[in-house]
Amino acid sequence: MDISKPERIATARQRMFEILEHGRRRDFASRIIDGFLVVLVVTNVAVVIAQSVPEVAAEYGTSLYLFDRLCVIVFAIEYAARIWVAPEHPMLRGNSPLMARLRFAGTPLMIIDALALVPWLLELLFPQSTLVPLTRLVRLLKLARYSPAIATIGRVIVSERRALMACVIILSGVLLTAAALMLAIEGHKQPGRLGDMSKTMWWAAAMLAKIGGGETEPVTALGRIVSAITVMLGIFCFALPVAIIGRGFYEEIRRRDFVITFAMVARVPLFSKLDASAIADLVSILRARTVTPGTTLMRQGDRGDAMYFIASGSVEVSSPTLSVHLSEGDFFGEMALLSKEPRAATVTAETSADLLVLEVDDFLRLLDRLPAFKAHIEQVAIERQHGKLKGS
Ligand code: CMP
Repeated sequence: MDISKPERIATARQRMFEILEHGRRRDFASRIIDGFLVVLVVTNVAVVIAQSVPEVAAEYGTSLYLFDRLCVIVFAIEYAARIWVAPEHPMLRGNSPLMARLRFAGTPLMIIDALALVPWLLELLFPQSTLVPLTRLVRLLKLARYSPAIATIGRVIVSERRALMACVIILSGVLLTAAALMLAIEGHKQPGRLGDMSKTMWWAAAMLAKIGGGETEPVTALGRIVSAITVMLGIFCFALPVAIIGRGFYEEIRRRDFVITFAMVARVPLFSKLDASAIADLVSILRARTVTPGTTLMRQGDRGDAMYFIASGSVEVSSPTLSVHLSEGDFFGEMALLSKEPRAATVTAETSADLLVLEVDDFLRLLDRLPAFKAHIEQVAIERQHGKLKGS
């Protein structure tokens, strides 16, 4: 069958999206490209460091320069390709291609990718600057895309921002109080070291950070007491944000990536009759996803890319003519995968829910391998299509 040019472009764009953005575990091309980009970023940063050493720069300057130019070309192609495939992003479907690309360009990871290209422009504008080449180190941030843990830290900082802001306010209050007290107590005794607020604030910051006040020793008893209290408050002020971030990090990991266990999969009625090796297979195929109440998991009209099994919690399936509640053991999202039609309904989490996600490729492979699974899913999908309100 002849495929028209626009269709060929759409298929190529979708494939490129899978390779660049989707990060599927078993997609060989995606793994190769990711690995290549990681190696390129790390090598590029090493080259920037090497170039700052005069002997290395004298010996290998031209090769290092050419390598850096090559990296810039690759990063620019990568950036353009990511922008090109943006309309394929599930979160951006429904936007016009231009709008999807503009919104995608504003996401944090794309801003980092754009920043990685800026040093090249700066070098063109300020060829003599010794500072500009070092701005290339910002490229290291590109690795954030490949480290879920970095994204997690970002989310923790955002979610704990109020508590962290309180820490900053406490720290500033302690610093200013200690500085003001020291100025009042010892300002006239040591005018050279503690004679104004800028000097006592530096002293207080050094005491709080436990790096000591340098040469500045308090000479009065009251000054020594204020110093001792400041050092102790410093320990408290610095321990507090560390504890807040540590706890948030733990919570975030626990919430996001709950471990899929054998028992969890075996509890889903559809899988309960499978033999142990098939269940073990599923444990490695399924992806864990935890959602908070109100999260929209799919919208009516979206393209289907996965189906979901509910390990705990409940969801609402809704459309203008439908409102169904599904709970533990039920599944949803199978109809679009079977029919290749858009999603028939919108599905929203009613409670916090632990979901097992089966991506479309794995779903199709399972249909081939497990005839009973296929028969059951098809049966349920037909019943749902005919408006019967049904779980699994
Ligand atoms: P899909 O069309 O991929 O996305 C929306 C999902 O809602 C759909 O698959 C089904 O899993 C689910 N759904 C649609 N209609 C019903 C129904 N009548 N009862 C239960 N679930 C449904």
